[in-house]
Amino acid sequence: MTEKLETRVAGLQLVHPVMNASGILGYLPEHADLMASWGVSAIVSKTFTREPREGYNPPIIVRLRCGSLLNAVGLSNPGKAGLRPFVESAKKHGVPVIVSVGGISVNDFIDVAITAEEVGSSAVELNMSCPHFKGGGLELGRDPVAVFNTVREVSSAIRIPVIVKLGLSDRIVDASVKALEAGAKALTLINTVRGMAIDVYSFKPLLTNVYGGLSGKSIHPIAVWAVYSVYKETLADIIGVGGVFTWKDAAELILAGSRAIQVGTALVYRGPDAVRNIVRGLYVWLRNVGGRSLLDLVGAAHER
Ligand SMILES: Cc1cc2nc3c(=O)[nH]c(=O)nc-3n(C[C@H](O)[C@H](O)[C@H](O)COP(=O)(O)O)c2cc1C
Repeated sequence: MTEKLETRVAGLQLVHPVMNASGILGYLPEHADLMASWGVSAIVSKTFTREPREGYNPPIIVRLRCGSLLNAVGLSNPGKAGLRPFVESAKKHGVPVIVSVGGISVNDFIDVAITAEEVGSSAVELNMSCPHFKGGGLELGRDPVAVFNTVREVSSAIRIPVIVKLGLSDRIVDASVKALEAGAKALTLINTVRGMAIDVYSFKPLLTNVYGGLSGKSIHPIAVWAVYSVYKETLADIIGVGGVFTWKDAAELILAGSRAIQVGTALVYRGPDAVRNIVRGLYVWLRNVGGRSLLDLVGAAHER
């Protein structure tokens, strides 16, 4: 079954296109085991920063109607010292391991990326798009010059592929072009979209951070648009992410231009079977539309 679904992104060979999105599970070695047991084709870590970060005080995650979440976790993680146990545990499962790297300065990114390579990661995904990480998130990723400089420095400091994760901004196409010019081998599109919810009885924002990142079904059409727009301009390797709950959602992102898919919020709502159900559905879809291989359908929406 999986032969037809094999794909390649950023030079990584994957048995099927579905991996987990960064941050949905934690940074501990057992979280890597859990992701592998759910059938992902690559394990993506939570974002690691140079120093440990405690994150924000609860509430940090709000469940919204219609299969969406609002979160402002604050990139809590144990710092780069937590990378070795996570990556070693993830590597046991025989799938590529992608370490998500966060930071504020270029040196932060370089330092964590070098450690990720040293401990055996297959690739790094530079998180330049967290909507609630002041200084290192969306502000960085929406500035094409900052993206270019950071990606160029990281790409010349390590040999493993550099993937750049961007979020919704009015400059998403420009930032993508600059990331690729600077040496990125693939783009992950998109991160959560800035949003907010208010308790109508206490009159207070539901998140302690006031605003956070919206994920899940409500951002899916935005992700499809982002992938479509960036692929049209660049034909880049793209990992599509945002509101993938079913094989149809994944198929849309593939037709828009994604060579692989990440699943986040659906893991919370749908649990351990989410990934396998999407993979099975993609296989049946491919057969029904007469596709020889999934890669033949990447970007097919552009040919009409
Ligand atoms: C609770 C939570 C934590 C997240 N943490 C991270 C993170 O550490 N790094 C990152 O790049 N994205 C993080 N994200 C964003 C996801 O990786 C993904 O881009 C986003 O949720 C959209 O996908 P989805 O709709 O399938 O969840 C997080 C999302 C959620 C809901």
